[in-house]
This record gives sequence, C-alpha cells and structure tokens, in this order.
Amino acid sequence: MGSTVAAVLAGEGVDVVGIDVDPELVTRMERRRHRLAEPGLPELLYGGLDSGRLRVTTDYDPVSDADVVIIAVGTPVKDTELVDVYLRAACTELGKRLRAGQLVILKSTVPPGVARKVVAPLLESGGLTVGEDFGLAFCPERLSEGQALRELRAFPIVVGGWCPDSAAAASAFWRRTIGAEIIDCTSLESAEVVKLASNWWIDHNIAMANDLAKLCDVLDVDVLEVIAAANTIPKGTGNVNILLPSVGVGGSCLTKDPWMVWRAARDRDLELDTIPVAREVNDSMPAYTAALIVEELARLGRRPERARVAVLGVGFKNNTGDLRATPVLPVVAGLRRDGAEVVLHDPLADPGEVEKTFGLAPVETAREALAGADCVAVLARHDEFAEIDLVAFREVVAPSCVIVDGRAYYSRETIDRFRRHGYAYRGIGR
Ligand SMILES: NC(=O)c1ccc[n+]([C@@H]2O[C@H](COP(=O)([O-])OP(=O)(O)OC[C@H]3O[C@@H](n4cnc5c(N)ncnc54)[C@H](O)[C@@H]3O)[C@@H](O)[C@H]2O)c1
Repeated sequence: MGSTVAAVLAGEGVDVVGIDVDPELVTRMERRRHRLAEPGLPELLYGGLDSGRLRVTTDYDPVSDADVVIIAVGTPVKDTELVDVYLRAACTELGKRLRAGQLVILKSTVPPGVARKVVAPLLESGGLTVGEDFGLAFCPERLSEGQALRELRAFPIVVGGWCPDSAAAASAFWRRTIGAEIIDCTSLESAEVVKLASNWWIDHNIAMANDLAKLCDVLDVDVLEVIAAANTIPKGTGNVNILLPSVGVGGSCLTKDPWMVWRAARDRDLELDTIPVAREVNDSMPAYTAALIVEELARLGRRPERARVAVLGVGFKNNTGDLRATPVLPVVAGLRRDGAEVVLHDPLADPGEVEKTFGLAPVETAREALAGADCVAVLARHDEFAEIDLVAFREVVAPSCVIVDGRAYYSRETIDRFRRHGYAYRGIGR
C-alpha cells in the first residue's frame, strides 16, 4: 500500500521519500528488481525513481525535512488482537524526528482508538505536542489490490483529524496532490470505524453470496443469474448489491479487519455475532471447492490419487499475485492430501514465493500446466488468462476434463462453448 501511495504522489509531482525497514526490499526497488504484482505499479514506481521524484531508503532521517509524513506499515491481527509492533516501531522513530509544523497522516488500518491512544503518544515522545506543534489525521486506505492505482485516484478520501486544523491540513494535502474528494469525519475514531465498517460489510456480503451459491448448487440454478436479477431492485441509496461467491476470501484485509471490529467490541463488553459467522462461511469455501473438484473428477471416473489438476491463478483474488492468506492454498493442500497431482501456474505471482507458500514450484506456461490435466481449476482469473483459450488446449488436456471455475465467472456462452468442445464445467453455485 505504501509503494502505491508513494508512486501515485510522485507521479503527481510530489517529492517523496519511501522509508522501509526491510533493506532487501529497498535494494530490490533501487535496482528496479522488486516484483510488484499490481497492474501499472512497476511503471509508475520505477518512473518515479527514474525521475528523482521518489527515493527509497531504510533511513528515517529524511522525515525531518518532510512537510507530510504518511504511515502505511502493516497492522496484522493475531488471535483477533492487533499486532502493533510495526506501528509502534515506526511511530517511535518518527517521534525522535518530528519537528513543528509537520502533518502526520496514518493510513494503516487500525482498531478504533489506536490513532489517539497508541500513535499520538509515541509521536509526542520527542517532546512535541500533537494539535499544537504538529498535526495528526487518520485517512484510511480503501483501495483494493488489482485496481489500486485507479482506486487511489478515484475514491473519496476519508479524513478524521486530531483537531479541526489537522483535518483541514490533511484535506488540503489530498486535494492539492491527487485532487481527491474529501469525506470529513468529526473524529479520528469515526474515520477508523469507517474503514472497518466497509470491510465488515464486504466480508459479510460475500459470506451471504457464498451461502447463496451453496443453495443454488443444490437447487441446480445458476447463482450468477440469481444475483444479477436480485441486484436490480433499488434499496437505500443504491440497489441490492450481492457480491460474488468464490473459492474463498483471502488477502491481508478482509481476513483480519472484521476481527479488529469484533475485538474492539468485545473489549467494550459488546458481542458482535455477525462477524464470526461471516468469517466461518468464507473460510469454508476452499474446502467446499476442493470437495467440488473431487466430486467432478469422480463424475469423470477419476479417483483423486490418479488425477492431475492444473490450477490457474494462485493469488488471493483475480489480477493479483499476492499470496497472503490465499484461499488457493487450502484448496491445493486438500487436493494433495487426497492424493491428486497438482500443477500450479500464475503469471502474476513470484515463482519463489509460490514455491515457499505451496511447497510446489509453479510451471512457467499455461501449456505445461494443462498438459494431461483431468481438471483445470481457474482459482484466480487474471486478465492475462483471457489470452488462454481453453478450447484451443482441448487436445493438450486429458480426454475427459472438467473446468472448475473458482472465480472466473464465465458467461453462459463461454460455458456452452466449453461443453460443445467436450469439457465438463462446474462453478461455485453454478
Ligand atoms: N494491501 C492492501 O490492499 C491494503 C488496502 C487498504 C489498507 N491496507 C492497510 O495498509 C497497511 C499496509 O498494508 P500492506 O498490504 O501494504 O502491508 P505490507 O506488509 O505489504 O507492507 C508493510 C511494509 O511496512 C514495512 N515496515 C514494517 N515496519 C516498519 C517500520 N517500523 N518502518 C518502516 N517500514 C516498516 C514492511 O517492511 C513492509 O514493507 C495495513 O494496515 C493494511 O491493513 C492495505
């Protein structure tokens, strides 16, 4: 997220210094060797480095020269609790270097109260006072991977300030740099909850879509047809908007942010029932998908231990090579436990990372993956795969082969075409 914000700001002509504690990351970036699986980001980031508008370093000292300091360190959750070591470390370093007149913008996702109770005191540890000497605002990052650049420029920016002056300074910064529309929140806490509420809603909505898909499967109706029709009814300020079912919910946000909300409530003696339920439903999808693949293989007369499954796309969703909490991992693990031979292919994911995560080296080309496959499982449908016409590979795969659609959402016409050319097809809820 930090590299996206840095690259976009540099692209708008702002002088940016990107600071990261990971020296290898900084070196890889300086050498233009860092693999960024975000469409358009390498060009923008390396363009920024080439132009001199962007520098990357492990050194915190340039902080003293900055007008605005943006915090974008990771804020993982372990056992429902925020792991705040990275945030604390960054704020401690900043506290030593802040000077009067600066504005600090927290962008990392945090539970309500963290900006005020954790970030502000650490920033003040060098002797300055927030609200008097320097400003503090929370502006949650709401972009999603795969379309980060577009969304960063297009989405309104939520601003919650320590004080009205901090909020005004942050709003002015985003308006001046990326021309963003600003959504004012009256407090840091309000802006913190905005971010979490959005991801709570998304996770919850997907859980409903996944349950709906399971229902449609047993009713033998197409869940996408149902969703498309259901979504035509106006409700509230928009339409009913059921999101899409899939092989599962992964990534570093939706798998943790709802737990931040749940934990914040629990710490205040409030029990939120919807969050664990939604998480459980979404976490059930990889096993559901693996079972579906085994079922389809059985229909083709193949036992899993004699089957070869080609997995196209191992990222946690379409158009990203990010493997964090990817639901593809438990699908693959389940299939391998059942004895299947699994071959992985993903043009966006770093091959070394894939091997480390899956314990299985990916193959470089789709042809290698598809050779002799009894099942083609499209578990993340990247735009690159549009060039792979599975029909053209009909002679490459096994004579009986099923396409399992975990996130490709093939049209009826495409599915009919697959079937006309001798493929079986099965989707999540279709
Ligand atoms: N990835 C997304 O799509 C996304 C979207 C919205 C919000 N967010 C939020 O943004 C934050 C960052 O997410 P991310 O996916 O970029 O995480 P990340 O783990 O990919 O990146 C965090 C970076 O911070 C660096 N870091 C750790 N401690 C540091 C320190 N003390 N000083 C300087 N650098 C330090 C790490 O080395 C790492 O490179 C999180 O709070 C996340 O919830 C992420």
